[in-house]
Amino acid sequence: MDPVPWREAWHEALYAAGRGFYVARGGPAAHFTTAAHGPTGAALARALLALPDHPVRVVVDVGAGRGELATHIAQALAADDAASGTRRSLEPGPDGPPRTRVVAVDVVERPEGLDPRVEWVRSPGGPDLPPQLTGLRDVLVIAHEWLDVVPCTVAEVDATGAAREVLVEPGTGAESLGAPLHAQDLQWAESHWPAATPGDRIEIGRSRDEAWADLVSRVDSGTLVAVDYGHTAAARPSRGTLTAYAHGRLTTPVPDGSCDLTAHVAMDTLDADEVRTQREALQALGLSGTTPPHALASTDPLAYLAGLERASTEARLLDRDGFGGFRWAVKRVRSHDVT
Ligand SMILES: C[S@@+](CC[C@H](N)C(=O)[O-])C[C@H]1O[C@@H](n2cnc3c(N)ncnc32)[C@H](O)[C@@H]1O
Repeated sequence: MDPVPWREAWHEALYAAGRGFYVARGGPAAHFTTAAHGPTGAALARALLALPDHPVRVVVDVGAGRGELATHIAQALAADDAASGTRRSLEPGPDGPPRTRVVAVDVVERPEGLDPRVEWVRSPGGPDLPPQLTGLRDVLVIAHEWLDVVPCTVAEVDATGAAREVLVEPGTGAESLGAPLHAQDLQWAESHWPAATPGDRIEIGRSRDEAWADLVSRVDSGTLVAVDYGHTAAARPSRGTLTAYAHGRLTTPVPDGSCDLTAHVAMDTLDADEVRTQREALQALGLSGTTPPHALASTDPLAYLAGLERASTEARLLDRDGFGGFRWAVKRVRSHDVT
C-alpha cells in the first residue's frame, strides 16, 4: 500500500464505515480506562454540572464512548432532584416535560442497555459532527477525550530544517517524509509550534481548533468544556505524542483499524476563555481529596467510610501525574454573543 499522510490514514483507521476502530471494535472502555468510567466518572459528572453559571436545559456529551459519562450525568441530575424535591432531571413525569435533557453523541448506533434517560445521536466521527447538533441553548457541552482522537497532520523537521508532512503505510505503520507543509499548516506551526531541529515532530492542531470551533458555533448560549490530555506553548512535546492503544495496552501506531490512535491536544490554541489543569479546575469547584476526620469513624462509621471513598476518588481526579494533569478548555457563549 502506498504511503499516505498520517491524518488521512488515521481518519480511515478510526472511522471508516464498517471497519474503523471506533466503529467496529467495541467501545473505548473495552480498550482503555478514562476518568469517565466508574467512581471517577460519577465525581467528574457532578463537578462538570457545577461548572456553568447559568441554568442548564440540556447537557451534550460529544465523543461519549458508550454513554458512560452521560449516564453519570443523568444519575447526578436525578440524585439532585431527589435531594431537593425538584425535577431538574430528564425523567418524564406526570407534571410536564423533562427539564434537563442529556444527549450523548458518538459514532455508533445507540448502545444496547443504555440508561433510557440518555438520548443518543450518531455522529460521522473525527472532526465531523452531526447536523442535528445545532442551535443549542442553555447548554453544557462536554467533550471528554474527543479532540485527541480528531486526526491531525503530523510533521517532522528534515535535515535541512524544513517541516515536512509525515506519511505512513496503513498496513505496517512504516513512516516516510512527504512534501513540505502546505500554507495553512505551516502558518499554524510557525504561530504555535515553531520547530527547526532535524527529527523534531509537530502535531499540527489546526484540525482540532477547527473541530472545536465548529462545536462552539452550534451553541447559541451555554458553556462548553473540552477535557483532554494536552500541552500549551510553554512546553510542546518535541518528539510528538502519537500513540496507539488496544486491549488496555500501549502498542505500535499502525493505522489499520486494529488500535486506537491518539495524540495530545494543543489546548491553548482552542477558542476558549480559560485553559487550566483538571486539578486546578476541580479544586476551584470544591474538590479537595481531603479525608474525613478520624473521629467520625467511631461516631458515624458509614459516613466515615463514604468520606474515605469520596476522598480517594477525588485524589485520583486531582493527581498531577494522572487525571489531574489533563486540561480543561472552557468556552462560554452568552446569548448576546449570537450574531
Ligand atoms: C478516547 S474516546 C473517549 C470516550 C469517552 N468520552 C471517555 O472519556 O471515556 C473518544 C470517543 O470519541 C468518539 N468520537 C470521535 N469523533 C467523534 C465525533 N465527531 N462525534 C462524536 N464522537 C466522536 C469516538 O468514537 C470515541 O468513542
